[in-house]
Amino acid sequence: MKGCEYKPGLEGIPATRSEISYVDGTKGILEYRGIPIKELANQSHFLETAYLLIWGELPSQGELESFETEVRYHRRIKYRIRDMMKCFPESGHPMDALQASAAALGLFYSRRALDNPEYIREAVVRLLAKIPTMVAAFQLMRKGNDPVQPRDDLDYASNFLYMLTEREPDPFEARVFDVCLTLHAEHTINASTFSAMVTASTLTDPYAVMASAVGTLAGPLHGGANEEVISILEQIGSVENVRPYVEEAVANKQKIMGFGHRVYQVKDPRATILQELAEQLFAQAGFDRYYKIAVELEKVVKEKLAHKGIYANVDFYSGLVYRHLGIPTDLFTPIFAIARVAGWLAHWKEQLAVNRIFRPTQEYIGEHNRSYVPIEKR
Ligand code: SDX
Repeated sequence: MKGCEYKPGLEGIPATRSEISYVDGTKGILEYRGIPIKELANQSHFLETAYLLIWGELPSQGELESFETEVRYHRRIKYRIRDMMKCFPESGHPMDALQASAAALGLFYSRRALDNPEYIREAVVRLLAKIPTMVAAFQLMRKGNDPVQPRDDLDYASNFLYMLTEREPDPFEARVFDVCLTLHAEHTINASTFSAMVTASTLTDPYAVMASAVGTLAGPLHGGANEEVISILEQIGSVENVRPYVEEAVANKQKIMGFGHRVYQVKDPRATILQELAEQLFAQAGFDRYYKIAVELEKVVKEKLAHKGIYANVDFYSGLVYRHLGIPTDLFTPIFAIARVAGWLAHWKEQLAVNRIFRPTQEYIGEHNRSYVPIEKR
């Protein structure tokens, strides 16, 4: 059977047909189930957006209320998982802790009843509800403290910030954080979503699917870039050092974290919205040094690399927002994962309907019919 020509990284090769989200990389368009991301960022909230992504339509008032109640009910994690997490080394990266604890959820909940809609809904609710609790629990435990229980009187974003900091968040900051979750929820067939789809196609349980996706997102070329952006801003140190930094990176063909994208050939629309959020936060609290360095860095990179279609991506401003909210840098990618669970679950459900295991082919470029050489003659 004649296949497609080999493309490194499957660049430009459709791996599925999907109705979940749409990206136009030349016009900078992103839509979730046909709704522009700007409208969802301004008018929706993360859990409602997650419902839209997973079940395909915006929920009615009743549907949303029962979904929010279910998620609220399932926020707590079993004491055995907390006890397991207490054995994790404090020096471990939170993404590794999240991958291990997401997989551990399977020990308690995976029944592999994928033909049972109730099981599907339970898995969706449990993963959306428990992943934030596990991220916050790891943060408190690595500081030597007991994790705090979720608070049923707080909404999704406020409860996570409360569990993470042990303080009720400022309502405006909680709203900004919720918008960040919406912006990171879904983005067609990115590496971690593709990883989720491949794992889902074997009909394994959804907890293994999530663990697979978390491991993929952790890479610095993917979800891990937001953490790297902050260290670059710290390394540059001042607005005056931006241009020399960029010129050296370009001369050494070194990739600058937070820039470039396989699909966008213009500024990532999510970066534009995140920049506006950062401006609102800093307008309230005073523009800090790193924000000014970031604005200058984006300007100089655009000057030097726009001709290659290299612009700021979603990871460029998100780190500045999270840093301002007092979130430790190594938790930026776990927060990306908290949001992207919605997209991973949507594609998991969509992949189950395809019901065809991923098994691509290859172009074999090795040798044939070689003889075995006994070790004494090698
Ligand atoms: C995310 O796919 C998604 O949707 C991902 C994501 C999502 O929501 O899931 O949007 C989230 O992962 C955003 C990207 C975060 N990663 C980074 O910020 C890391 C830095 N970016 C690069 O590693 C890179 O831009 C990628 C990985 C994002 C995309 O790389 P591609 O499409 O494989 O591009 P490439 O490596 O083939 O580069 C093409 C050219 C090269 O120059 P030439 O050899 O042709 O001269 O562009 C250059 C690259 O050197 N280039 C960069 C650059 N990214 C690409 N040059 C400087 N800085 C960069 N960041």
